[in-house]
Amino acid sequence: MADFEQMWRGLLPIGRSSESGGYFRQPFASAERECAAWFKQQATDRGLRLEEDGIGNLIAWWEPNGSEGAAVVAGSHLDSVLDGGAFDGPLGVVSALAAIDVLRARSVQPTKRVGVSVFVEEEGSRFPIACLGSRISAGVTTLEAALALEDRSGTRFGDALERSGLDPSQPITPWLADVEAFVELHVEQGRNLVDRDAAVGVATQIWPHGRYRFEFTGEANHAGTTRMEDRSDPMLSYAVTALAANKQARLAGQRATFGRLAVTPNGTNAVPSQVTAWLDARCESPAHLEDLIKAITRQAQERCSRDGTEVSITAESVSAAVNFDHNLAQRIAGALPSLPTQAGHDAGILAGAGVPSAMLFVRNPTGISHSPDESAPMADCLAGVEALADALQVLV
Ligand code: HGY
Ligand code: MN
Ligand code: MN
Repeated sequence: MADFEQMWRGLLPIGRSSESGGYFRQPFASAERECAAWFKQQATDRGLRLEEDGIGNLIAWWEPNGSEGAAVVAGSHLDSVLDGGAFDGPLGVVSALAAIDVLRARSVQPTKRVGVSVFVEEEGSRFPIACLGSRISAGVTTLEAALALEDRSGTRFGDALERSGLDPSQPITPWLADVEAFVELHVEQGRNLVDRDAAVGVATQIWPHGRYRFEFTGEANHAGTTRMEDRSDPMLSYAVTALAANKQARLAGQRATFGRLAVTPNGTNAVPSQVTAWLDARCESPAHLEDLIKAITRQAQERCSRDGTEVSITAESVSAAVNFDHNLAQRIAGALPSLPTQAGHDAGILAGAGVPSAMLFVRNPTGISHSPDESAPMADCLAGVEALADALQVLV
């Protein structure tokens, strides 16, 4: 397992903030490109055949019997949320490379092609759609629509690709059609495994979830000379909506978060003209998600009518419920505890596109994720590598 620890040490410093200890590996920015270069080097060091598609998705192939035919792929992502943890994504990529090392050490002779994949922009931390790389690969999002997506500075996805030396006109993930099984190992983003005292588990499902942009529009005015009763304050409409979202989610036993805000003009002594807020909602079923969004929308509109403001709501990124392939999960990890997740993953996108997919989770002692405090003990990470190697050995 020295391979895993050596790889982990090599990747760890890339993109880590010296202030928070969190990671800023936004797609096509320097740290994430450094991570991609790190992956390419690891593939080369192992004699794996590297492919990069037109949007930067990577796959490293172990092909003892040639580069044609059925494939089994393991992988995850290297990009992070803003100020994210070290494990979300990279643990799956490093574990997949280490699992190939284990299979080779076991003298396993694959009868199929074995790939280690890295999909770009899984977090949707720069561009509005989560799992953008795997959605484009699976045909869930068209390349044309993706190229026009803009980040917070107004840079288009297509321009970010070209500035990274990528050519989106190249075939997108030509290998996906050959994949018989995709297995993503991921740090658990919750406490299920730690509460069950298990190092590794297998996923049953991903809750349906979505991201919704709420644009509250009011009337800019002086913070001092404008009487309270004369205001049309979009910040007030937002604040009441945020409280309503929290209450609705609690009452329904679901999840709702406003974690991102943009205020115009964002001045200390002015009533804002506009407040844009992004809602992340996650529910146990599509019907629950629809009901939650309807309830929050209704309350936002009611508040706006009282405040003399207006709101427009746009669904930016919606992910359907995923029920992972039960037979595949049983075949590769039947002895492991099974658990659902409320986190979206590339494996979920591929599963939704008909690629037989499974996920393995590694215990996270605090359950904290999308935070510098995300963690996983080395012993559990190594147990994850063994479990992934065992799973791949069944499949290849
Ligand atoms: O946001 C998510 O659910 C995942 O971590 N990308
Ligand atoms: Mn992830
Ligand atoms: Mn994540």
